Amino acid sequence: MCGIVGYLGKKEAYPILIKGLKRLEYRGYDSAGVALINDDKALNVYKAKGKVADLEHVCADKNLTGTIGIAHTRWATHGEPSTKNAHPHYSESKNLAIVHNGIIENYADIKKNLSAKGVHFVSDTDTEVLVQLIEYIQVNKNLDLLTSVEVALHQVIGAYAIALVDKRNPDQLIAVRKQSPLVIGIGEDEFFLGSDASTFIDHTDQVVYLEDGNIAVMTRGEELKVFDIENEKLNPEVKTVDINLGQIEKGGYPHFMLKEIFEQPECLRNSMRGRVVNIEGETGVVLNAIEAHKEEILNARRMIIVACGTSWHAALIGKQMIETYCRIPVVVEYASEFRYGNPVVGKGDVVIAISQSGETADTLAAVQLAKQKGAFIYGICNAVGSSIPRATDTGTYIHVGPEIGVASTKAFTGQVTVLTLMGLAIGKAKGTIKEAEYEAIAKELWNIPEKMKEVLKLNDKIEDLSRIFTYARNFLYLGRGFSYPVALEGALKLKEISYIHAEGYPAAEMKHGPIALIDSDMPCVVIATHNDMYEKILSNIQEIKARQGKVIALVSKGDETISKIADEVIELPETLECLEPLLATIPLQLLAYHVAVCKGKNVDQPRNLAKSVTVE
Ligand code: F6R
Repeated sequence: MCGIVGYLGKKEAYPILIKGLKRLEYRGYDSAGVALINDDKALNVYKAKGKVADLEHVCADKNLTGTIGIAHTRWATHGEPSTKNAHPHYSESKNLAIVHNGIIENYADIKKNLSAKGVHFVSDTDTEVLVQLIEYIQVNKNLDLLTSVEVALHQVIGAYAIALVDKRNPDQLIAVRKQSPLVIGIGEDEFFLGSDASTFIDHTDQVVYLEDGNIAVMTRGEELKVFDIENEKLNPEVKTVDINLGQIEKGGYPHFMLKEIFEQPECLRNSMRGRVVNIEGETGVVLNAIEAHKEEILNARRMIIVACGTSWHAALIGKQMIETYCRIPVVVEYASEFRYGNPVVGKGDVVIAISQSGETADTLAAVQLAKQKGAFIYGICNAVGSSIPRATDTGTYIHVGPEIGVASTKAFTGQVTVLTLMGLAIGKAKGTIKEAEYEAIAKELWNIPEKMKEVLKLNDKIEDLSRIFTYARNFLYLGRGFSYPVALEGALKLKEISYIHAEGYPAAEMKHGPIALIDSDMPCVVIATHNDMYEKILSNIQEIKARQGKVIALVSKGDETISKIADEVIELPETLECLEPLLATIPLQLLAYHVAVCKGKNVDQPRNLAKSVTVE
């Protein structure tokens, strides 16, 4: 969603803020802005609709001096994307400026009250309401800025991360976090602030992750001070963050998405490192989280997986894995539905929350609800130290590195890998998986990165193929068993970045409705690898061909039957059926990518989407 950057130190703030904003653009990008206090104590705010580059253009002839500043990239929630609604927002006197990520739920009531008292508003945002409220309290109750913030936050309902400056005090930067991520970087006589640590990682790796309700006061020449909302002083823990800057740059690829697709073999190695092990000549799986919480996990009466989007698709694969190998019933829920569905959940249930960002508001709320009701919570996340892992009882990081492209790719295969490891570790501990099968899957999982490299060699072929289908208006993706969630994921990738309507279906469901859509203009991507479902999928393909549909079939290497009837064929290396999603997903990611590129779409930042959905 929105992104926040801040700086207070000895250097010029503007270049640091702009660079930080560029790193955060993936979170939201309908407008951007920056506020700087210069040596004459002038507080200058510059804003632009569009990208950070548009902001730079606006700033080109402005006074950009100042060693303290805050900046923001916005993804609109209240008020249309416009310069007026872009952050930072001034208070009425223009003494204060604020940037904000999240939503102030009761902003309309506060705005009404303040308006009745004569406060004037210039934007449609909930953010401006917050800064006006802080100023109103500061002036009318004659309080210092920190106390005014604390008083204001007692009146505010919602989720927020904010950063605030006051031109009368150019030596102080205040930041607050509630349910929206905020990290402080600590340098030598300088502070950095970011929605994530990538914004300042080239300056410092020493960070403090603010917790919910924390108010941080950064003052020139002083140590960082952190308070809770009742003004109790806290002892923030300084951690060393491990992000490699090279990881977050494009590394020679034209887009982050393509780079991230190609990184998958290495990412999966990292996901498995130290977890797929050789014990006395035999391959096995060790997951510390399961070792440490055997009682809760092995005795689970049921597992509920909560997630959104791509992570939800991974959850569907996890369900099959856990039910097959652990014989524990698993329910997969959209986190957004779970949180409002009055779910029957409690002690004895294990709730697994899957989230790449670890910040998805719906998933976090589902976790909090399940926790309140007494369930044991297991997180599968990528962003280390993010909100969801911090709210869970235990969990496993997927360790695929920062995912910058808005369309999730390597996180999906990382999530499926960790779910496979969980299925194996729990199944082995419960004795519900046969020894030979356990070892065969663990061994083959270890081989998957090499097989993925083979699949990635199909990139040129898929690029050629994509040209044929660029102008299709609809796509159908079909799969069965473990491949059905892959079909859903392939369809989601295509719609997200190429804006072509696509639907994923279990292949056998076709005859219950979607078959009516099939004609010569309908490309159907069918996952038809050599497994128990092969004969059934073959007849589904024949049904499509009988109606002149175009079939792009993903088959196992050497397949002769489907290859003869499909219009286009993509051959995949053989693997175990439960691991096929890890290979079959890649051509679908590449197909979506190349179709979107052919159509001239903004692959890394598709319209209307944000990388991290931190509001409902
Ligand atoms: C799709 C995509 C989204 C996310 C969803 C959940 O490419 O990126 O559907 O998967 O917003 O995000 P996380 O996994 O961060 O909770």
